[in-house]
Amino acid sequence: MTAAAAKVTVVDHPLVQHKLTLMRDVSRSTKGFRELLNEIGMLLAYEVTRDLPLEPVTIETPLQPMEGRQIAGKKLVLAPILRAGVGFLDGMLSLMPSARVAHVGLYRDPDTLQAVEYYFKSPSDLADRTVLVLDPMLATANSAVAAIDRLKSRGAKDLRFVCLLAAPEGIARLQEAHPEVPLWTAAIDDRLNDHGYITPGLGDAGDRMYGTR
Ligand code: PRP
Ligand code: URA
Repeated sequence: MTAAAAKVTVVDHPLVQHKLTLMRDVSRSTKGFRELLNEIGMLLAYEVTRDLPLEPVTIETPLQPMEGRQIAGKKLVLAPILRAGVGFLDGMLSLMPSARVAHVGLYRDPDTLQAVEYYFKSPSDLADRTVLVLDPMLATANSAVAAIDRLKSRGAKDLRFVCLLAAPEGIARLQEAHPEVPLWTAAIDDRLNDHGYITPGLGDAGDRMYGTR
């Protein structure tokens, strides 16, 4: 019997849903798209870190000593999948300013839909860290699976995947390849089209973010 897959969390907070709808709109400018992705990144960071363990710490307020709480345990690594995953980075780093960053450069071959690696740079000690893999789009999941394979080859054991839109097909594939990796997304859309695009989706996230085509 295969192990049960880790949890999928749909972040249905009204601010996230409102901003996501603005992003999907074909008339949204590159500037607006980028700003919204950054803002949603901040809101998703809040959700994906909700269960991080805390430990007591004694501090002095101006009036007296007290026992406060601080984040304990493993240090965080943010691992954006280039290019579009970078859109989450600033928003997340503004809440987690000490996090390390691992850049995973992948592009999807338009004919085969397979992920092709062109860059990888990561802290060396991933075994002792919690790694948040960032990519707005989980379509076939070929990119997500390849990125997680690569991060695991550098020792990562505690990984979480954060996206904006997920296709049901991508969730199934990610859970099959890496069943222990939990997933956070702002929405689960209907399906993939014949070109591997998420529908209704928002189009090509990298192109919309950087104004390329
Ligand atoms: C997009 C997106 C994901 C990938 C998702 O990247 O940002 O990385 O496709 O598709 P998948 O789940 O089917 O692998 P793309 O390859 O277009 O590169 P870009 O971010 O540089 O535009
Ligand atoms: N990559 C994107 O940017 N959008 C999709 O819908 C699928 C893959």
